[in-house]
Amino acid sequence: MNVIYLDNNATTKVAPEVVDAMLPYLSEYYGNPSSMHSFGGNLAAKIEQARQSVAALIGAAPDEIVFNSCGTESDGTAIRAAIESNPDKKHIITSRVEHPAIKNLYETLSKKGYRVTFVPVDNQGRLDLDYLYDKLSDDTAVVSLMWANNETGVIFPIEEVSREVKARGIVFHTDAVQAVGKIPIDVNATGVDMLSLSGHKVHAPKGVGVLYIRKGTKFFPYMIGGHQEKGRRGGTENVSSIIALGKAADLAKQHVDVNGYEAIKKMRDRLESTLLAGVTNSMINGDRENRLPNTTSIAFEYVEGEAILLMMNEHGICASSGSACTSGSLEPSHVLRAMGVPFTAAHGSIRFSLSRYTTEDEIDMVIEKMPPIIERLRELSPFWKQAMGH
Ligand SMILES: Cc1ncc(COP(=O)(O)O)c(C=O)c1O
Repeated sequence: MNVIYLDNNATTKVAPEVVDAMLPYLSEYYGNPSSMHSFGGNLAAKIEQARQSVAALIGAAPDEIVFNSCGTESDGTAIRAAIESNPDKKHIITSRVEHPAIKNLYETLSKKGYRVTFVPVDNQGRLDLDYLYDKLSDDTAVVSLMWANNETGVIFPIEEVSREVKARGIVFHTDAVQAVGKIPIDVNATGVDMLSLSGHKVHAPKGVGVLYIRKGTKFFPYMIGGHQEKGRRGGTENVSSIIALGKAADLAKQHVDVNGYEAIKKMRDRLESTLLAGVTNSMINGDRENRLPNTTSIAFEYVEGEAILLMMNEHGICASSGSACTSGSLEPSHVLRAMGVPFTAAHGSIRFSLSRYTTEDEIDMVIEKMPPIIERLRELSPFWKQAMGH
């Protein structure tokens, strides 16, 4: 059975060109870039080339790019650097819909004496800007907000927020793990101090990430060790994956530059409108205007997301649900709860996330298979019967 992979916000296929680019650095050229001999030392130039590619993708200067292991490391490093460079400030701000990489770190910091503000969102997943601006104070060490939400695709107005936050002299970090490669990103237009991205979301392998650090930003490394990455991240470089990420960044830039995301958006919109028309009691979670072009979170009321996923799986269709198993019971995700999505809709929410490898035929197949799946599950659902009055 062919797999129809519509779970690209979870992870992406490594692009074939990326595999080709990285393989020689796993087999033939396995040296250590810090070595004195040229067999290893020559690899340093390859890393610099990859750094330039990643920098070009987000409008940064190459020496503002620090390679590390993943988006989670980037997020953690940024927040820790911000609070360490402002030791007298004890207030930190984020939103209620962040990825666990930020959410759980902030919760941990709140137990360590930090005052934490989680800015609410409305029922479309849009940030409450007045609430945010009202909370900025001289005691605020850092504001961290995701560029785009991994579950709904909703895009926050990062440029505007960055301007307000920076005007108050507060460090601003953005988790752009889901945004990079899907929409144009320019760190200078937005003025962010730090930005996180992750290789495996942009058709590079897992285990490589980047923290962008604006020149002049006070920084303390999280991984203290050797002189790698100019002392900003110790540890022997993951050479093959860094080279892979460089290649993936080149491809992503081409894709974004030629409005490649328009083609993805068209497919996403077709999937979405056909499913909404074909399945009663279904709706989109999140602001349809300001959304990633590849993402749709659709709530199918009165059915269980996990059951939908299992039936989709029988047809080889991969997606994600809007709930997670917490201590034995299915809980709607914190994102959908923060948006106030009713329980009956949050439970049956499915996230479809497309990529440049998604085809029209695959979308046709999903459009064909989904309505009978929902219909079958509703026949079995006591909640559906109750809601429909029979
Ligand atoms: C918004 C967001 N931030 C951070 C991460 C973590 O990235 P990584 O898996 O590279 O640690 C993810 C991954 O799903 C994400 O979607």
